[in-house]
Amino acid sequence: MDPIEIQKVNADDVMDIRHSVLWPDKPREFVKVPEDENGIHLGLYFDSILVSVISLFADGRNIRFRKFATLPEKQGKGLGSRLLLHAIAHAQAEGYTRMWCDARTDALGFYERFGFKKFSEPFFKEQIEYYKIERML
Ligand SMILES: CC(C)(COP(=O)(O)OP(=O)(O)OC[C@H]1O[C@@H](n2cnc3c(N)ncnc32)[C@H](O)[C@@H]1OP(=O)(O)O)[C@@H](O)C(=O)NCCC(=O)NCCS
Repeated sequence: MDPIEIQKVNADDVMDIRHSVLWPDKPREFVKVPEDENGIHLGLYFDSILVSVISLFADGRNIRFRKFATLPEKQGKGLGSRLLLHAIAHAQAEGYTRMWCDARTDALGFYERFGFKKFSEPFFKEQIEYYKIERML
């Protein structure tokens, strides 16, 4: 049986992974965003354990993804790719035409493999460098 299952989860379910992977030095509240209430949160379970999360936020016909993270011990195994492809397919099925994100510069190479391209100058949030990236759906 495939050990991987992807499903919609609640905002509360994604917070621990967001916090421990993305902003471990900040208070837990830091990883919540006001839009979470209205977002779609997808979780990838490996052997029934939640290991990778991503959140989607609609804005007209655009969809933004935020707070994409895989637990460190599960990174580099293709799980994030599975989850991102699922998120892209979901967005296409829902009729969105463009997907975008504020991407950490470290992750740009990863996103480029999925057809995302930069559309901004570099900018910083805290000490971390980002670019805005997008792809048509
Ligand atoms: C970015 C992130 C969500 C991707 O999730 P992931 O589960 O590691 O994703 P994948 O395993 O599919 O791909 C990650 C890397 O592993 C490689 N990989 C994928 N499958 C692999 C496999 N079977 N064997 C070896 N390597 C593999 C990919 O080529 C990719 O390489 P890259 O680092 O050169 O881009 C995850 O690495 C992460 O949480 N990083 C820290 C937080 C972060 O930067 N989040 C993004 C903010 S914009």
